[in-house]
Amino acid sequence: TQQQLIDSFGRRVNYVRMSVTDRCDFRCVYCMSEEMTFLPRAQVLTLEEMGMIARAFTQMGVEKIRLTGGEPLVRGGITQLVDEIGALPGLDDFTMTTNGASLPKHAQALYDGGMSRLNISLDSLDPERFKRLTRTGDLTKVIAGIRAAKAAGFKRIKLNAVVLKGRNEDEVVDLVEFARDEGLDISFIEEMPLGDVSDHSRAETYCSSDEVQERIEARYPLIPTTEATPGPSRYFRMADSDSRVGFISPHSHNFCSTCNRVRVTVEGRLLLCLGNEHSVDLRAVLRRYPGDMDALKDAIINAMPLKPERHHFTTDGDVQVVRFMNMTGG
Ligand code: GTP
Ligand code: 5AD
Ligand code: SF4
Repeated sequence: TQQQLIDSFGRRVNYVRMSVTDRCDFRCVYCMSEEMTFLPRAQVLTLEEMGMIARAFTQMGVEKIRLTGGEPLVRGGITQLVDEIGALPGLDDFTMTTNGASLPKHAQALYDGGMSRLNISLDSLDPERFKRLTRTGDLTKVIAGIRAAKAAGFKRIKLNAVVLKGRNEDEVVDLVEFARDEGLDISFIEEMPLGDVSDHSRAETYCSSDEVQERIEARYPLIPTTEATPGPSRYFRMADSDSRVGFISPHSHNFCSTCNRVRVTVEGRLLLCLGNEHSVDLRAVLRRYPGDMDALKDAIINAMPLKPERHHFTTDGDVQVVRFMNMTGG
C-alpha cells in the first residue's frame, strides 16, 4: 500500500514546490535585495539529489510538483531534471514558476519534458516601470518568452503580478486585458514579508486583493468559479473570456486551512510552511546515506507533524521571515 503524507491537522500533502536555484537574472524589489549574494555550490542540492527527492515524494502520494527558484531556468542542466521528473509515475501535474526571460530558449524542452502548465511573473506592461520593479529585467524578453511558451504548445499559462501600492496598482486592468488578449490566466498577489528587501516599506506598499478586485470589477465584472482548488488562489471568470482572474491574498484571505503543499529549498531543507522556519534537513540525510530511498522517505514522513497550522504574516512592514523569497521560490 502506498504511504500518504498527512499532517497533524489532517491536511494531505500532495504538492511539492522545489526551488532548484537561488540565483536569478532579475532582482525584483519584493523578492531580493539589490546586492544579493548566492550560495556556494556545495550547499546547493545536485540535480541527482533533486531527482531523488522528487521520486521519493511521488512514491508517497505527491501528484503535483512545481519547480521554482530563484529563476529555475538559470540552473544548468534544468532540462535534464525536467525530463527526469516528467517521467515519474504518479505525477499528474508538473509545472514551473519562471520570470519568462529564458523561455524563448527553453520552452520547447519544458513542454517536451512533460510540463503541462507554466506560471510567468509579470508585474507591469510599461518597459521603464518593469525595469524599476525587476531592476535587471527586460520586458521585451518576457513578452517573447510568453509567446514562445504558447508556440511550444502550453495551453494553460498563468501570469503572476505582485501588486504594490504606488508602483503598479494602477495597472491591474491593463494586465487583465493583456491576459485576455493573449488567452492567459492571471493572479494578483499580496506581497509577503520575506527577507529585508529594503527597496520600499512594505507597510506603505500594501495593496489588498479586495482593492485590486474593485479596480478590475469597475471594468470587468468577476464571476466566482465553483472549482474549489486547494491552496491560495481564489479564481474568478469574466463573462466574455476564457481567462481566469485569481487572487492570492496571504494577508486578507487566509488559506492555510486548505494548505496541501510543502517546499524543498535549494539547500535541501524541507520547509513545512512558507511563513515559518520549521524544517528538516534532507540534504544531510541524502549525503549521509547516499542512494538510500528508505532513509529519505522516513525523514519526509517524520517531518509531517512539524507542519504548522498557519502563517502569521502581518502588513505592518516588519520582516517576519528572514529568509528571502528566492531561497524558497514562493
Ligand atoms: P499553484 O501551484 O497552481 O497553486 O499556483 P500558485 O499560484 O500557488 O504558484 P506560484 O508559484 O505561481 O505562486 C504565486 C504566488 O503564490 C507566490 O507569491 C507564492 O509565494 C504564493 N504561494 C504559493 N503557495 C503558497 C502558500 O502555500 N502560502 C503562501 N503564503 N503563499 C503561497
Ligand atoms: N511576496 C509575494 N510574492 C512574491 N514573489 C516573490 N517575492 C514575493 C513576495 N515577497 C512571487 C513572484 C513569483 C512567485 C514565485 O513569487 O512574483 O511570481
Ligand atoms: Fe527572480 Fe522571481 Fe525573485 Fe523576480 S521574483 S527576483 S524573477 S526569483
